[in-house]
Amino acid sequence: MNFWYGKHIVIGLGGGIAAYKTLELIRTLRTAGARITPVPTPAALHFVTPLSLQALCGERVRDALFLPEAPDGMDHIQLARQADLVIVAPATADLLARMAQGLADDLLTTLLLARRGPVVVAPAMNPAMWEHPATRRNVTTLQEDGVQFIGPEAGAMACGDEGIGRMAAPVTILEAARRALTPKTLTGRRLLITAGPTREAMDPVRFISNHSSGKMGWEIALAALRAGAEVELVHGPVTLPAPMGACCHAVDSARAMLDAVVPLWLDTTDRPGCDVAILTAAVADFRPTEQRQNKIKKSSGIQESTLELTLNPDILAMLSAWSGVATRSGRQRIVVGFAAETDAPLIHGREKLARKGCDLMAINDVSAAGSGFGTDTNAVTLIGRDGRTEPWPLLPKEQVAERLIQTITNLIHHPPRYGCS
Ligand code: CTP
Repeated sequence: MNFWYGKHIVIGLGGGIAAYKTLELIRTLRTAGARITPVPTPAALHFVTPLSLQALCGERVRDALFLPEAPDGMDHIQLARQADLVIVAPATADLLARMAQGLADDLLTTLLLARRGPVVVAPAMNPAMWEHPATRRNVTTLQEDGVQFIGPEAGAMACGDEGIGRMAAPVTILEAARRALTPKTLTGRRLLITAGPTREAMDPVRFISNHSSGKMGWEIALAALRAGAEVELVHGPVTLPAPMGACCHAVDSARAMLDAVVPLWLDTTDRPGCDVAILTAAVADFRPTEQRQNKIKKSSGIQESTLELTLNPDILAMLSAWSGVATRSGRQRIVVGFAAETDAPLIHGREKLARKGCDLMAINDVSAAGSGFGTDTNAVTLIGRDGRTEPWPLLPKEQVAERLIQTITNLIHHPPRYGCS
């Protein structure tokens, strides 16, 4: 089910020009099935009208502290208690100052003072105001109080100034909000994820590659980050924006991917290797044996040509072989592969799991409708080293990722004992 479906979100709006972007945030959340209660400050109503908020939310705008029709006149307490999440966007310098002081001089600050659950704040103000020591103090105070900040971002302001102060984009606020609501089951764990295709150069202008979009690996990175994990994302050429908070390592060829993952998987002087490896990358099995310095020219009259290929290193097999080597962390490690198959997926998947020695293999029939390269959905069958087989229905890649992270979390907290009855 869609994550936002049925969630009740209070959206507080401060008096800043960025409030127009909050309308888009509201629309996205509403489309995803969330219930939104808009609570603008009186100043916010200079920038957005009650009518636009009401039309987008389908709910009465709460802008007054004392409403005769509210039960017991205690609207602020009800709202503070009932909502799954409170998002304040935009949070102006004045609003942050009032929140930090614990003032309760309008409905929004009053409900924030009564609030005990998660609060996400997206500041927006002139860069000079954001940098001012008073704002810095207020932000620190609020962070110590458990308020979670997203942004502001650098860029051009509506006033013409440049610097840090722009409200985070609605999509970024949405991701921060989702993280605020996700239990932190993987805190302290470091996950290595590979994603996307690799490119194997023939000459300076041509390469061998495949159709991988990187979406599956991206969704897994996001799911892991939401669960509180640290993510090292090693990826081939993709067109996706970096997942917020991931440490991204862009590579091109299979050998470059191997060079990037090895120091992340093995102990280094700085830190122990990652705890989990999830290899979704569609690594090219072969590379041109010779990589020409100059563009290959076709000689006149040529009708056929042969390209000699050399086998690439199998990154999954290598990481699996090393996973038995205890790291300084002393933790049992988990390696997950993704098998792209076009025929007899279970037979090939089982054989691949055994050959590569990983703990789990997510088998993906890339010839099935809605499953595989470039799609937003995937039909995966998960198989384990113990022979366990779990066919999952066709799901959005986002939900495949959530399920996989849940399975890995269970394995971390309840490790199986292979070889024992
Ligand atoms: N893989 C890898 N290094 C390679 C080839 C594959 O790490 N050189 C990983 C992939 O990231 C994936 C898994 O192995 O997790 C299975 O990839 P797949 O392409 O399905 O398998 P191949 O080993 O390439 O086998 P084949 O092409 O024969 O199906």
